[in-house]
Amino acid sequence: MTPVEPVDLTVADLHPALGDPALTSMNFLNEVSERYPAAVSLAAGRPYEEFFDLAAVHRHLETFHRHLVDDLGHRPEQARRLLLQYGRTKGIIHHLIARNLAVDEGVTVDPESIVVTVGCQEAMFLVLRALRAGPEDVLLAVAPTYVGLTGAARLVDLPVWPVAAGPSGVDLADLRAQVRRARAAGRRPRACYLMPDFANPSGLSISPADRRRLLALASEEDLLLLEDNPYGLFHLDGGPRPPTLKALDTDRRVVYLGSFAKTVLPGARVGYVVADQRVAGVDGRVGPLADQLAMIKSMVTLNTSPIAQAVIGGRLLEHGCSLVPANTRERAAYARNLRHLVAGLARRFPDRSAVRWTVPAGGFFVVVTVPFDVDDALLARSARDFGVLWTPMAHFYDDTVPVCALRLSVSAVTPEQIDLGLDRLAALITDEIARRTPSQVR
Ligand SMILES: Cc1ncc(COP(=O)(O)O)c(C=O)c1O
Repeated sequence: MTPVEPVDLTVADLHPALGDPALTSMNFLNEVSERYPAAVSLAAGRPYEEFFDLAAVHRHLETFHRHLVDDLGHRPEQARRLLLQYGRTKGIIHHLIARNLAVDEGVTVDPESIVVTVGCQEAMFLVLRALRAGPEDVLLAVAPTYVGLTGAARLVDLPVWPVAAGPSGVDLADLRAQVRRARAAGRRPRACYLMPDFANPSGLSISPADRRRLLALASEEDLLLLEDNPYGLFHLDGGPRPPTLKALDTDRRVVYLGSFAKTVLPGARVGYVVADQRVAGVDGRVGPLADQLAMIKSMVTLNTSPIAQAVIGGRLLEHGCSLVPANTRERAAYARNLRHLVAGLARRFPDRSAVRWTVPAGGFFVVVTVPFDVDDALLARSARDFGVLWTPMAHFYDDTVPVCALRLSVSAVTPEQIDLGLDRLAALITDEIARRTPSQVR
């Protein structure tokens, strides 16, 4: 399109990723929701805002400050400096994160292998930046893939090769085939990115048996696994959760990406990466991959805000470093909403031949498959004419093949809003089916 205003630069002169759909996707979705503020949003994967508590933020900060003085023996001026001055690149709550992983996940990690990051998003970027050493490198990722991962990979010029999810979260035969295909083509698969628990966007989880098979495969094929786990706490039943890949990892195959956005507070922008892989540095000294990531971080964000870390640290301390009891209300609300959404779909589409949906065991997302292509134009029509927002699944695939599915999120809405949103979605789907000639209906 020819610009109507005078311009100083064109996007073609900037990094190629800036013209890529992976980077424009989030902006587009935000713009649609801003343009139609009255629409019910089943699109946003944001946490439920009614639980946000400003007073608690102050308390967490105080709790962490007391911890520095009373438990760690810092003098008042040292504690003040730790909270308010530039700080350690790898972070100041690494010991609490290590304790949290031990308590909640049964994972034992050396705190020195943890880098506290500006959200999980920065953690992904650091890892991909470090792994992309040359043009032969590729990243494998289970598709559909979280768009933030694809976008970060674009920014470091790392091609993403899809691996089929299959019905069980990861198709292990396809993963092995993709590793071999890449190597046969002279490429170097640096890692495979996946979400074993309630993946965004598919909602799928990998069974404990497949997690073990996956680790065995990674070992046989000499492959790293990037495990992203922002939703693991939010399972529907209260029973034991399956072990994370990191909990099963006996030979440092897994780089673990953590986020406090859904379990504590998204506005704090705190996440982390556990990278315990041993790396021989330029000086010959061997240290954790975390040290190399910290070097990159020191050139990107210097360090994660210590004030934000203190808020997360205080919340952890107030709950014995376990986020399970700390999220009792959240877990109940998300589970209630997920059940409500799935039951609401069943009521509105009793004949499951034309419209189908996933029934996840937890998390925020349900994928609805419909008998027509779902694209951005349909989303815009849905917002304008029907007053409901959702996410086209095409945003989570790294190609332009039409996709007949959309993602619904239950995290930022009430059951009443879910009802209203589903009524409107059902009206859209009925209308869309009626508008299509039989040959256009898939
Ligand atoms: C799968 C996945 N990974 C990472 C992130 C980003 O996490 P953070 O907010 O900690 O940067 C999200 C956010 O929605 C996500 O869904």
